[in-house]
This record gives sequence, structure tokens and C-alpha cells, in this order.
Amino acid sequence: MNESSQISYNTVSLAGQRVMLVGGAGFIGHHLALECRRMGAEVLVVDNMQINNIVKIVSDRMIGDLQRRLYTNFLLDRFSLMREANISIENVDARQMAELTNSFNEFQPTKAVHLAAISSAVTANQMPGLAYDLQITTLRNLLELCRLKNSSCNHVAFMSSSTVYGDFEGDSVDETIYPRPRGVYANGKYIGERMVREAKELYGIDFTIVRPSALYGIRCVSGRVTQKFIENALMGKPLLLEGGGSGRLDFTNVDDLVEGIVRALALEGGRSRTFNITYGSARTIADLAAIIKEIIPGAKLEERPPAPEKPKRGTLEMSRAREFLGFLPSRGLDIAYREYCQWYVEQWRRSEGRSNLL
Ligand SMILES: NC(=O)c1ccc[n+]([C@@H]2O[C@H](COP(=O)([O-])OP(=O)(O)OC[C@H]3O[C@@H](n4cnc5c(N)ncnc54)[C@H](O)[C@@H]3O)[C@@H](O)[C@H]2O)c1
Repeated sequence: MNESSQISYNTVSLAGQRVMLVGGAGFIGHHLALECRRMGAEVLVVDNMQINNIVKIVSDRMIGDLQRRLYTNFLLDRFSLMREANISIENVDARQMAELTNSFNEFQPTKAVHLAAISSAVTANQMPGLAYDLQITTLRNLLELCRLKNSSCNHVAFMSSSTVYGDFEGDSVDETIYPRPRGVYANGKYIGERMVREAKELYGIDFTIVRPSALYGIRCVSGRVTQKFIENALMGKPLLLEGGGSGRLDFTNVDDLVEGIVRALALEGGRSRTFNITYGSARTIADLAAIIKEIIPGAKLEERPPAPEKPKRGTLEMSRAREFLGFLPSRGLDIAYREYCQWYVEQWRRSEGRSNLL
């Protein structure tokens, strides 16, 4: 990477901005809310708490007792941190225009970030109606509020996904590759991208489309492979490596993603672009498992036949984010995932010891 194109993060500021995060109590959302606040913005989080959040965690019968305690603690920590940072949190279902309008009009955001979704491609395929509803109706409502005459908000950042690219033809993709999304989740994201682009074209609302990939980081309760593998290792269950774990993903530390989004929110000229914001270098599932094995030596790795139905993925090129945002991701799997893994083990052990507290 060309280090010279990096712009010091110290020069970036959101002072004077009022940032509204739709779906902001989620994994990415709460990290982003805290960072926007740290960068000087007033922040409002609206969330219906239903997906990968408190309503789901307390009511899902498939979650074991220990995990329920652990995840509840992660969620309570999210809310405490946001409250301590003076971030306003409102229990709003963004599909309900009246509810969203009240929050929007009262807060008068200058920028909005759209994060609401069923953020799992597998679950979205199982519940297409709900998945489209959560992704698209919420975005429609937000854009409608931004479109109104005298709206305070003229910049929407839309959290899309690397899955819009579909199967990678080579080892990497950049933003010039034409999307070929497969499945409900990826198509919903692609429709969202089209909606924000059209809103710029028709109504002049600036946008930033962000395509992240395979995130991991503290207080995540989403059950992606980066979290599930650690839990399996802790519970003595095998880590199943399809095709020997040769599948490659551009694993990204949430702190890097959040810095990239803040840089995009702070950008004054040259907005309305699509950015890959990832670590920018894919690694194998076997690499991930090897790090877990170092931290939890008893972890059992088991090879399985390849799963041809899984999409072929790889690296998301980061040159555009480097050029326009001056952004270089800082910490890869070997450092950041190892730290996350150690943190997870600590939290798990603490939860085991606290069996009668919640
Ligand atoms: N985590 C990743 O690896 C990843 C990768 C690519 C893209 N994304 C996208 O980034 C966004 C955030 O992801 P995340 O990992 O934080 O997911 P998450 O599930 O932790 O957060 C989504 C939040 O949206 C809220 N929400 C859902 N429907 C809502 C509604 N109708 N009204 C208000 N709030 C609602 C949920 O309660 C939840 O708190 C999602 O759009 C996801 O698709 C995530």
C-alpha cells in the first residue's frame, strides 16, 4: 500500500454535525455512534432492537443460558457506553414513517447513516419478506424525509455489502466491477444502492455507499464465523473447515470500518461515491482457525468436503478509499483478531462465573 496517500485521522472532524444512525444500536452502529461522538458530532441512534439485539436475545429459545447472559452483557455494555457518551437512543421502528418522522424532525440531522437490515444472508433468504421490508422500507422512509423541502439532512451513508459483487471472478474486486448479487440479502443491498443513487440524481441528496466485508470486533452478537468458531472452540465443538478452510474472506476489524465511515462522513467535496471499506487483503478460514487454536489450544479443527453452493469471495480493493478518503486500514487478522479472540475468551469465562447474576 502507498503510505503517502494516508491523511492523518487527527485532521478529520465531525464538529457541528448532527448524525442520525438508523439501526444504530447494532454491532457496527454502536461502534460508529461512539466514534462520531468522539469526533465531535451530536448523535442520535434509532433502533427497534429486534435484530441481533435485545428483543431477539431475550426471546430466542435457541440461545443457550450462558450465551444469553454473555450477549445480554454485551448489549447492556453497548447501551451504557452510548449513554455515557451522551448519545441519544430512541426505540423506533424505521418502517413506521410517523415514528421516524418524529425523531428526525426533533433531532434535525445533518447526516444520516442507514444500517437497518437482517444482516445475515442465510437468515435473509429464510425470511425474504421481512428482510426486504427492513432493508428497503426503512431506507425509503429515510430518503423521503431527506427529500422534503427544508430538510436538515443532505447526506445519507448507506451500509451496503461486499455481497453485491456476487461470485468473484478473480481474487479481488474494485468498485468498477458491475454487481451481480445473488440471494435476498445481496439483492436488497443492491436495490438500496440504486435507491440512494437515484435520490442524488433526482433530488440532489448526497450519498456514500459503503461496502464492508466479514467484520469482527468486541460486543458483536451476530454469530458470524469469526464469533461462532471461538464459541465452538470454547464449548469443545469442532471448527468445521469446508474444503480444508480454503475459502477466503476480507476479514475486517470494526474499528477500521468505523474510521473509514467517519472519514467519508467528514468529506466535504467529492461525495456521492461508492467505497469498499475493508482490510483490503483476504485470508482463509483456515488462517482464522489457526489463530483460535493458538489462543484456545484444545480447539478441534475438522475438515469437511467443499461447499460449492457458497459464493466465491476474496479481496476488496481499497485504492478508491485510499485516494478519496486518505484511508488505510490499520490492523489485520494476526493482530486485531487475536486480540478479539482473547477478549472473547475472557468474557466467556467471566460469564461462566456469573451464572446466577442475570
Ligand atoms: N457485520 C458485517 O460483517 C457486515 C458486512 C457487510 C454489511 N453489513 C451491513 O451493515 C449494517 C449493520 O450491520 P451490523 O453487523 O451492525 O448488523 P446488526 O444486526 O448488529 O445491526 C442492525 C441493527 O438494525 C436494527 N434494525 C433492524 N430493523 C430495524 C427497523 N425496522 N428499525 C430500526 N432499527 C432496525 C436492528 O435492531 C439492529 O440493531 C447492516 O445493514 C448490514 O447488512 C454488515
